[in-house]
Amino acid sequence: MSVTTQQYSASELSKLAHRHLWQHFTRMGNDPNAAVPIIVSGDGCYVYDADGKRYLDGLAALFCVNLGHGRAELAEAAANQMRELDFYTTWSYAHPRAIELASKIASLAPGDLNRVFFTSGGSEAVESALKLARNYHRLTGNGQKIKVIAREIAYHGTTLGALSATGITACRTQFEPLAPGGCHVPNTNSYHWPLDRDPLWAAEKIAQRIEFEGPDSVAAVILEPVQNGGGCFVPQDGYFQRVREICDEHNVLLISDEVICSWGRLGYMFGSERYGYVPDIITTAKGLTSACIPMGAMIVSDRVAEPFMQGTRAFAHGFTFGGHPVAAAVALAAIDLYEREDICGHVRAKEGEFRATLESLRDLPIVGDVRGAGYFQAVELVKDQQTRETFTDEESEDLLRGFLSGELYRHGLICRADDRGDPVIQFSPPLIADSEQFEEIGDVLRTVLTAASERIA
Ligand SMILES: Cc1ncc(COP(=O)(O)O)c(C=O)c1O
Repeated sequence: MSVTTQQYSASELSKLAHRHLWQHFTRMGNDPNAAVPIIVSGDGCYVYDADGKRYLDGLAALFCVNLGHGRAELAEAAANQMRELDFYTTWSYAHPRAIELASKIASLAPGDLNRVFFTSGGSEAVESALKLARNYHRLTGNGQKIKVIAREIAYHGTTLGALSATGITACRTQFEPLAPGGCHVPNTNSYHWPLDRDPLWAAEKIAQRIEFEGPDSVAAVILEPVQNGGGCFVPQDGYFQRVREICDEHNVLLISDEVICSWGRLGYMFGSERYGYVPDIITTAKGLTSACIPMGAMIVSDRVAEPFMQGTRAFAHGFTFGGHPVAAAVALAAIDLYEREDICGHVRAKEGEFRATLESLRDLPIVGDVRGAGYFQAVELVKDQQTRETFTDEESEDLLRGFLSGELYRHGLICRADDRGDPVIQFSPPLIADSEQFEEIGDVLRTVLTAASERIA
């Protein structure tokens, strides 16, 4: 049966969604008559639902439509490529767009990260990096190095290997046993730390964990430049420099998971650039194509790639669609737009104004912390501003799911109310967002958070 949106009314689409569509990470036992939020079109920083209502996409879909919705250049790049070469694989073969894109990414990536392995998304990129780390150590005579150290509440994807790095209990427990070797250490969220704590405490926790596990058993440390899970945890000054030292000391690979934090999100093509460190591997996806077609990548240093380039060796790993020519053509067109429109420069110039909009909400008693970097910011909600007391699980459930998510959406603002750590509202607008969108975010937040404060009181 051919199905197009034109055939159905908004309520019919909602009914069909309830009956047939398995939404990801979504509670599906809700009232079958409740309207499913159905987004039918997008333009710049805005999207429209099936009733024609406009929303400010304060989340860039899921941290990924970095160039804004409806970019004709990307559609044309896809259509042209489909006409020229619809698909060919990178298993044994190559094609011009994959070669050009790998070369372009290598020219932008930090240090000697010159080798690009394409995937279809972020989890596959992380999965590939974890397998590569194990394989690298095996080829260099350290086959017992298999463990990965990640941070609490960090999200690194859902495949069983990537999930062993993900530090969110609720994502893990239903699927155990996971791939062995996942170890977790505290993250850099200092909002609830004692005031006299050493700023490099969280970095030292990585050293301690490597020593506890036994350096001979640890393959890699995986970290995001700014941690998404828990709400935009920025690193302390010197954190990544110390982590780099720790990894070098113990022959442990440093993987920078930049699935969110690359392609301008933090004002740089790669988040590691913002914090001045050179990882051994970068994982990326999402904004690589501005999300209009699935693509991810693992970018590997010459040093780590070298053992795989010898004699009859091969990295025995791959995906049918890795480096898909249509996705590669779109990524090349997207990178061209990032550069031509100086998207990184725009984010760096405007992030202060965006942040100031959120900071201006601190007079509301429910606003605890405001944190983040670039166009990746979070507001942590608290019960008591003075003591920084957080909400109980029940209160958080009622506040976020029972009230905030629905109210923000009803006011035409898409953002993320999340309680995988302490309750936060997260923002990651398209990188073309400007003063008009910041003002709109500030206005809606003030209205909805004022109502939330009253509800709690
Ligand atoms: C840091 C990070 N790593 C990995 C992933 C997994 O990416 P995907 O959903 O494309 O598999 C995500 C997804 O949000 C992410 O934020």
